[in-house]
Amino acid sequence: MSSSNGNDGQVKMGPLTVSPMGFGTWAWGNQLLWGYKESMDTDLQQTFNLAVENGINLFDTADSYGTGRLNGQSEKLLGKFIREFPGKRMQDDIVIATKFAAYPWRLTPGQFVKACRASLERLQLKQIGIGQLHWSTANYAPPQELALWDGLVAMYEKGLVQAVGVSNYGPKQLVKIHDYLKARGVPLCSAQVQFSLLSMGKDQIEIRNICDSLGIRLIAYSPLGLGMLTGKYTSSRLPLGPRALLFRQILPGLEPLLSSLREIAQKRNKTLPQVAINWCICNGTIPIPGIKTVKQVEENLGALGWRLSSDELLQLEFAARESPQKMIQNIFQTRIRM
Ligand SMILES: NC(=O)c1ccc[n+]([C@@H]2O[C@H](COP(=O)([O-])OP(=O)(O)OC[C@H]3O[C@@H](n4cnc5c(N)ncnc54)[C@H](OP(=O)(O)O)[C@@H]3O)[C@@H](O)[C@H]2O)c1
Repeated sequence: MSSSNGNDGQVKMGPLTVSPMGFGTWAWGNQLLWGYKESMDTDLQQTFNLAVENGINLFDTADSYGTGRLNGQSEKLLGKFIREFPGKRMQDDIVIATKFAAYPWRLTPGQFVKACRASLERLQLKQIGIGQLHWSTANYAPPQELALWDGLVAMYEKGLVQAVGVSNYGPKQLVKIHDYLKARGVPLCSAQVQFSLLSMGKDQIEIRNICDSLGIRLIAYSPLGLGMLTGKYTSSRLPLGPRALLFRQILPGLEPLLSSLREIAQKRNKTLPQVAINWCICNGTIPIPGIKTVKQVEENLGALGWRLSSDELLQLEFAARESPQKMIQNIFQTRIRM
């Protein structure tokens, strides 16, 4: 599957057809990490409209996105923006990929179906594009895992989701759920994993190979390393909030990678985010960079329509390996042995 989105046309994902890049909406409603304010909503709506007008039809969200009283805000905003989008035909093509959290109180398939109905309510949709499990409980609550899987089956059988996917599954658990769902007649269309020039370890490569062999699309989340690969942050120019703690640790070791990104960007007349996202596409994934402003959408759209050469890919991968600090893995990512 790695190379089949070769010319940046639309990509088949199970029964769905999606753009070769989607956009992520974790920041929409998240005050703690991303500094969201409700006053940003008009701008967010413009970012959404611009993305859709330019052919982007995949938007990633989750039922846990939004902090405190704003829980579910990302889904609510997406629902509102879809309803208010001017243009019925494009509106119909939009694929929402939402994720259901494996909260400890969601212990039966029925509770996952209930969670799915709640997402549909917030999104004001009759059907979700891709219903994804946000993470596996295999390494800390194995008995809950089957309820998650059966929850996906039930959502699919009831027609609440068009397709199903997983997120943060390790290679072994990915194969197991694929086989389980297949036996129940439910195709697994996507697997989401942290995948970028800062996150291209053994696990990612193994997961990508499994996806390729099983016909599962790999969705690359945090393709810009939470913003570190955009080149706009330095040790003395850090973002507000908790990201600063992480960036302070990682950025000093990223110089080889950032200068390589800079060199290629300059030569190509592209920007660093465009090169970093293009690297994900060249690696057979569908990246979903997080976006907050019209400027970011405009810039990230420039990651489409061209390809890094194989020499450039090698140069970037070499520089990434030379950079001593890597991204921390999501705590919900199931490890390689699982
Ligand atoms: N499955 C999971 O467990 C999981 C985990 C994480 C994320 N995700 C999904 O993946 C999506 C993307 O990942 P992410 O948001 O974590 O990180 P990311 O895509 O690596 O970084 C996104 C951030 O980079 C900055 N940015 C984006 N485009 C830019 C541009 N052109 N120029 C300058 N800055 C730019 C913005 O933040 P600032 O402007 O504030 O710097 C933006 O919020 C999320 O929104 C979410 O949908 C899924």
